[in-house]
Amino acid sequence: MWRRSALAVLYAGVALAAEPKYKLGRAATAEDIAAVDISVLADGRGLPAGSGTAAQGKDLYFRRCSKCHGAEGQGREEGGPLVGGKGTLTTAKPLKTVGSFWPQATTLFDYIRRAMPFDRPGTFSNEQVYQATAQVLFLNGLIGENDVMDAKTLPKVAMPNRDGFVKDPRPKVK
Ligand code: HEC
Repeated sequence: MWRRSALAVLYAGVALAAEPKYKLGRAATAEDIAAVDISVLADGRGLPAGSGTAAQGKDLYFRRCSKCHGAEGQGREEGGPLVGGKGTLTTAKPLKTVGSFWPQATTLFDYIRRAMPFDRPGTFSNEQVYQATAQVLFLNGLIGENDVMDAKTLPKVAMPNRDGFVKDPRPKVK
């Protein structure tokens, strides 16, 4: 029952947005929404068209990432390490990196597109984000230099810590 009323509220919201009742602003267009609707889910839903390889991303990584994360992803002062730490999670000094800790490669795409490069986030094309993602995965030894990363292949990259998280036991509600 609560579901239906929640939906009703949602529809009411849509109707309101379409009517210029307050004569302020305008209803968001499909393009407006697409520009901010950039979430990529763990299973890869939401990944955009485009593709990239580490070989293509090598130069991009060198120019736009290495000053903060190191040429090999080992980390420098400003940015932490993106590589290494495999096998350290259960030790007294766990080193959490993309390679050792992150359970899904799809999150890497989402994160880079949203937040990196730290000094100019949001400036990469989807192709460049795929390339940078591929390069970080390659530096971690998880894919080959010429493996094409796209909406189909990225969700299939076997991340070392993919089974290291406790599953959420709560039932799915929509
Ligand atoms: C100006 C410095 C800077 C540049 C350039 C930069 N980063 Fe970062 N990066 C950071 C900082 C600082 C953080 C930590 C941000 C935070 O925790 O909020 C970070 C975090 C990250 C993380 C998350 C690491 C983790 O395990 O939490 C990834 C992945 C990453 N950067 C990738 C990239 C890539 C790829 C590029 C190039 C496209 C890049 N960064 C360029 C400074 C930088």
